[in-house]
Amino acid sequence: MRGNPPSVGYGFWKVEKDRAANLTVQAIEMGYRHLDCASDYGNEAEVGQGIERALSSRLCSREELWVTSKLWNTNHRAEHVLPALKRSLADLRLDYLDLYLIHFPIALKHVPESVRYPAGWFYDPGSVPPRMEYDPVPIRETWQAMEELMDLGLVKRIGVSNFNVALIRDLLVESHPYLVQSKLLRYCQQESIAMTAFSPLGAPSYIPLGMATTQDSVLENPVVIAIAQSHRKSPAQVVLKWGVQRGTSVIPKSSNPDRLRENLDLGGFLLTDEEMARMESLDRGQRFNDPGVFCEQAFNTFFPIYE
Ligand code: A2P
Repeated sequence: MRGNPPSVGYGFWKVEKDRAANLTVQAIEMGYRHLDCASDYGNEAEVGQGIERALSSRLCSREELWVTSKLWNTNHRAEHVLPALKRSLADLRLDYLDLYLIHFPIALKHVPESVRYPAGWFYDPGSVPPRMEYDPVPIRETWQAMEELMDLGLVKRIGVSNFNVALIRDLLVESHPYLVQSKLLRYCQQESIAMTAFSPLGAPSYIPLGMATTQDSVLENPVVIAIAQSHRKSPAQVVLKWGVQRGTSVIPKSSNPDRLRENLDLGGFLLTDEEMARMESLDRGQRFNDPGVFCEQAFNTFFPIYE
């Protein structure tokens, strides 16, 4: 069994529902073999249609694909874990996942599928003001239920996302040159934990959400631009290459086929040690995806997890 996911994956957060199926097929056709999905992204059924089309037209085999999905915050209680996975598997049209992650270390009160799917952050979006409702579920309870999914053969590996305490086998964390997390990466390497970097381009995803400005984007950084020019590559390719060369997987999102191609095309050049070090020195400890900030702004609920 493969240990780590293919180094460049396709991140589906915010990929539009009505385009997700076609983009999935196109991405697989281009050579993407790692799909990073989540029930919360609201497009798993469409990604599943794309996967089914790609597999039935033999673009690749199921074994060649690495598909990740994530358990949503409202399903942390042991009895909700298997049903949540089954819904993701049904939507994705798969009989197993390569990796299933706990999406956030945030347990929220359960919302049945019949009430709303995906449940999102609010317990009751109709209440005034709507709020998140915390449910005190120990992470161990969720983890044990995740382990049972492995025993059932429904998932090959389990892991956590958005955790900064490295307990387990696979880890998905925000990482880019403005948030390099070098100690976390070093610890993961020491413990043989695979680390996948989400938002590897540093900020563009958060600009339309009002959570970052263009100036915050790593792609606009003069050091990144200069290194990109010297290799005749785009800033995105250099930033992704840095992530791969330091030993993480990266899962950039794009809804644009040209960018999807560009993000996968990281062969034929190597960053020098000096360039790697210059990129690393851009670190500002700048986290764009921080529930301690966005839950209060967007969901009326103060919910720090990194402090
Ligand atoms: P789009 O979907 O319009 O291509 P991340 O995965 O790091 O959060 O970044 C995703 C964001 O970056 C999306 O807004 C996406 O926009 C944009 N993006 C993806 N690939 C590139 C690229 N190669 N160059 C510039 N922007 C990109």
